[in-house]
Amino acid sequence: MKTYRIGILGCRSRGTAAAKAYHAHPRTEIVALCDLVPERMEQLGKIVNVSTHFTDIDEMIQETQPDIVAIPTATDAHYPLCMHVLEHGVNIEVEKPICTDLVQADAVLAKAKEKNARVVVHHQRRVSPTMQSVAKELEDGKIGDLRYIYACGKGYYAGYGLMNIGTHVVNNMIRFGGHCRSLVTQATAGGRDITPEDVLPSPSGMGTVTGEYVTASLQFDNNVTGTLIQQRFPKVDSDAYVLELYGSEGRLFWSELKGAWLLSTPHYIPDGTHDQWEKLTPIYPEHYDNTSGADADDYCMVDEYVNALDEDREHECNGEEGRHVLEILMGIFESAIYGTRVELPQQNREHPLIQWRNENGLGNPKDMPRDYGTWLKVETERLYD
Ligand SMILES: NC(=O)c1ccc[n+]([C@@H]2O[C@H](COP(=O)([O-])OP(=O)(O)OC[C@H]3O[C@@H](n4cnc5c(N)ncnc54)[C@H](O)[C@@H]3O)[C@@H](O)[C@H]2O)c1
Repeated sequence: MKTYRIGILGCRSRGTAAAKAYHAHPRTEIVALCDLVPERMEQLGKIVNVSTHFTDIDEMIQETQPDIVAIPTATDAHYPLCMHVLEHGVNIEVEKPICTDLVQADAVLAKAKEKNARVVVHHQRRVSPTMQSVAKELEDGKIGDLRYIYACGKGYYAGYGLMNIGTHVVNNMIRFGGHCRSLVTQATAGGRDITPEDVLPSPSGMGTVTGEYVTASLQFDNNVTGTLIQQRFPKVDSDAYVLELYGSEGRLFWSELKGAWLLSTPHYIPDGTHDQWEKLTPIYPEHYDNTSGADADDYCMVDEYVNALDEDREHECNGEEGRHVLEILMGIFESAIYGTRVELPQQNREHPLIQWRNENGLGNPKDMPRDYGTWLKVETERLYD
């Protein structure tokens, strides 16, 4: 069985998580680290026992011939770095969201096709042990026919939350609901409808965003509908980050913190006899070692990549799926600003918020702090002082 050769491009927070997962997997070997900051490679190199370091991407690829380059960098660097690595015809795994707009995402997928390389987007929750247990119960018919999906973020300022946690949330929804055909959004900022002045650069380089409170109604394949709540809470609350599947014969519940649960009654009646939720056992790859230091969800991403390459098929979190997530996010913004139902995939691939600003003679929004805490302070003052 082939051992896949891995290059890690970006050795800070998410690069460390990715490297630990590739290091722990028996079928992958990290052959090189690459970063502009040598100290970060030194630090990570000690953790994953890799002393081959580069500050130049081309040198890394030419000298070490990786099968996959992981690109765990800030979102605004995804597009140029994906294009750079794909030019070499190497498979990539890029952190989520795939890019900051659809023009970029289309270009990345076109380049991958031209170079016959695979694109994977790091939406690790979609293949996590707890999500696999939800998928199994659904496949085994435990809740009958899926009818409706409820999903919620963690309570970040909504526009930023969409690009950040929303990418995971939406990806979880499409795993079960299928692709989104159309959507309708409600969005407010400062207690009123949003205006072109509410279009802002996202914190953390995640593109252009709007909306303090956003709720979207989504139509998926197969008559499944869903609601996505992405609202600013007084405090970020990871308990709120949930996915719930409503079927004709029961419900499945998933939470980042509380795991996966099954309710085997057709209709929920809170009378104490019909609310017996059963905790599901997470499904781990058989060789996962919880003492390895690798996060189980990240490990599952690696395991799925190994299996996909072995079987010459797409990863569950492939580039097309990652781009569809971005289509949904851009569709949510478009519906919010024009007050219309948006059909997907959209013909116009330009960022709808930049277009809206231009239509109103405003040009690009002014710079904002990159750090979320500082950004939120500035934005709160703008909206409420
Ligand atoms: N999947 C998740 O659960 C999750 C969680 C948090 C963040 N994220 C995503 O992770 C990304 C941010 O990750 P981070 O905080 O580790 O990023 P970061 O920007 O802090 O670190 C990126 C590293 O890459 C290096 N780098 C940048 N350009 C380079 C180049 N041209 N050549 C070599 N090295 C280069 C930088 O020096 C830095 O060390 C975002 O896309 C975010 O959405 C995902």
